[in-house]
This record gives sequence, structure tokens and C-alpha cells, in this order.
Amino acid sequence: EKGGFDHFMLKEIYEQPRSIKDCMRGRIYPEEGKVQLGGIKEFAEKLKNIDRIIIVACGTSWHAGLVGEYLIEEYARIPVEVEYASEFRYRNPIITEKDVVIAISQSGETADTMAAIEMAKERGATIFGICNVAGASIPRLSHAGVYTHAGPEIGVASTKAFTAQVTVLTLMAFYMAQQKGTITTSKLIELLTELDNIPEKIQQTLESNNIIKEVADKIKDSTNCLFLGRGSGFPVALEGALKLKEISYIHAEGYPAAEMKHGPIALIDEEMPVVFIATQNSSYEKVISNIQEVKARKGKVIAIVTQGDTEVKKMADYCIEIPDANEAFLPLLATIPLQLLSYHIAVMRGCNVDQPRNLAKSVTVE
Ligand code: F6R
Repeated sequence: EKGGFDHFMLKEIYEQPRSIKDCMRGRIYPEEGKVQLGGIKEFAEKLKNIDRIIIVACGTSWHAGLVGEYLIEEYARIPVEVEYASEFRYRNPIITEKDVVIAISQSGETADTMAAIEMAKERGATIFGICNVAGASIPRLSHAGVYTHAGPEIGVASTKAFTAQVTVLTLMAFYMAQQKGTITTSKLIELLTELDNIPEKIQQTLESNNIIKEVADKIKDSTNCLFLGRGSGFPVALEGALKLKEISYIHAEGYPAAEMKHGPIALIDEEMPVVFIATQNSSYEKVISNIQEVKARKGKVIAIVTQGDTEVKKMADYCIEIPDANEAFLPLLATIPLQLLSYHIAVMRGCNVDQPRNLAKSVTVE
């Protein structure tokens, strides 16, 4: 049942080239520069006139929401707010009929996320669900939605469901941009052609497994770890930290790299591993100066870099390469080595990776 893998988590990590392909199937038409999302088609007109989008979710799904915010604002130019469902439901949030609330949930049963959309629905918002489990409560409560089609996820730590959520949000951002006319067909052709090729690039990323295992061995005895990124690399850093803490029980924090000097930098000494998302995109130079700040304090730097990078390699203790890609697709690629890193560290520490202590696959109580 684990298909020859030692754990479900590892199997699910390796399934990602396929699960992302399944998620895109029948939804993207790269040659025509077109995205089709049958699940929200009825709302195509409405999407032209919405004032804002509120994304509600918990945990890893909330991290996917942060990536969604970045993509929807960039391409569809619609303001997005990303809320922890548990906080949102107990505020008295301002919601109108012109709002679209997107609930992201692998299980479709998370109590806080359900309660948040019930409240938003009562106040007149249109609810879209992004779920993995067909027919679950959240899809039933939603007006419309898009399934992630990642297949059953057994490992408690979410891996392939996360990348499928990010894929759906990418498709939604492009779909909304197409509806609103904030993107040209030629740009969409370019982006979709590249997106279509992402499963292949994830496959290449998985081939760094042995290098990642070596890095895992070097940092497995740490008691703390920092993950830093900027732009869409920031939610990737948050997700990397969450994966590490939940399965290896190492205390880890994700931070926007530039925020480091406002506090966390005090933690850095020769014992502290700092994982940077340092790929070649718009924040590359800025991340490089953040790496210098860590090295000046003797921190151990592990960097996720673009294939062929030379600058970061001069400074970092360990580098893990990922294929070059448009910034929009960076989270899909950069997440993969962080999943593997956590996995190997947890295995080396003798942890129960598929069923970490105190955690449940779906949190149906608040
Ligand atoms: C982390 C993890 C959790 C879930 C969270 C929300 O690996 O799995 O943080 O992401 O409990 O669950 P869903 O997506 O089912 O609503």
C-alpha cells in the first residue's frame, strides 16, 4: 500500500509530479492561453466585479492561502486577505455580498474553517471551496469550488495536498485575470506552457534526494531551526518550518527574511541552522544580504537555490538546487526539498513520520 516506500509521507512526496498533473488535467489549455474551471464557471461574470477575496484556512492550507494572495493580487489585481479560520470566525468581520470567501481544506472537515464559511455565507458572501476530499462538508457548504484531485493523503503531515492547493490557486489567479482582462493571452500562453512543465521540474527536484539526506544528517541534532524567505518564498518558509516541527519535533520558525533583524537575529549562533529560500527572482539580491547577516554571526546556512547559482554558493554551507522557473511557480518547486529535508530529519531522529504525536489528520473539533 505504500508502493515500496518506507512511509506514506515519502510516497506522497514522490507522487507530486503526478498529483499536480491530475490537478491541472482538463483545466489548462497552454496553446490557447486559456484556463477552464468548471467548478466556478457559474460565477465567471461575478468575478469581474468583486471588491476583494478573503481566504480562510488553518495550518498548511493557510500557507497555501498566502501563496494564493500573492498570485491573485499579482495577476488578477483583486485585493486578498488571508485569515486563520479560527480567528476570523470569532471577530466581527466586515463581509458584504460583493466578497468572495475561499475556504481551503484538504479534508474538507476542519471545524474552524467550516464555521468561518457558515458565518460568511450568512452575511451574503459567495463561498468557494478548495478541497481534496470529494463530497466532504466544506464542498457541500460552498456555493462553488475546485477540487485539488491529489488523491487520498494518508500521512498526517500535508505534502501533495499542499502543492495541489497551490496549483488550484494558481489556476484561479489566472482564471480571474482572464475574466477581468488583467492578463494578455500571450502572457497566459507563456505562463501556462511553463506551468504544464512544472511536474517535470518537480521530478527533477526529487532527484536531489541524496543531497538533501546529507544535509539532513548535518542538522538533525539541532534543537532549533529558522526558515527565511521573501515574496512568495515567505509562505514556503512558513511551510518548511511547520513540516519540520510537526514531524521531527525540532522547534522551527518561518519568517520573512527582512524581519530577521527585528528580533530573530538574536537567536543566531554557530548552532543555529537557517534555511533560506534564495532562488533567482526579484528578491534575490535582498536575500543574499540577509544570508550575509547570518554568516556574519556564524549561523549555518542551508540555501534552496536556482540550478547553476554561483553567488549563494560562495556563502552558504549547503545548497540544494531547484530548476529555474518563473517566480509564480517558485512555491511549487521550493517546497519539495523542504518536505524531503523534514522527512529525512524525522526518520533519522526515530520519529513516527506518518503519525506524529498529538496530531490528527483532520481537526473536527475547534
Ligand atoms: C500540516 C497539516 C495541518 C492541516 C490543517 C488544516 O501538515 O496537515 O496543519 O493543514 O489541520 O487541515 P485541512 O486542510 O484538512 O483543513
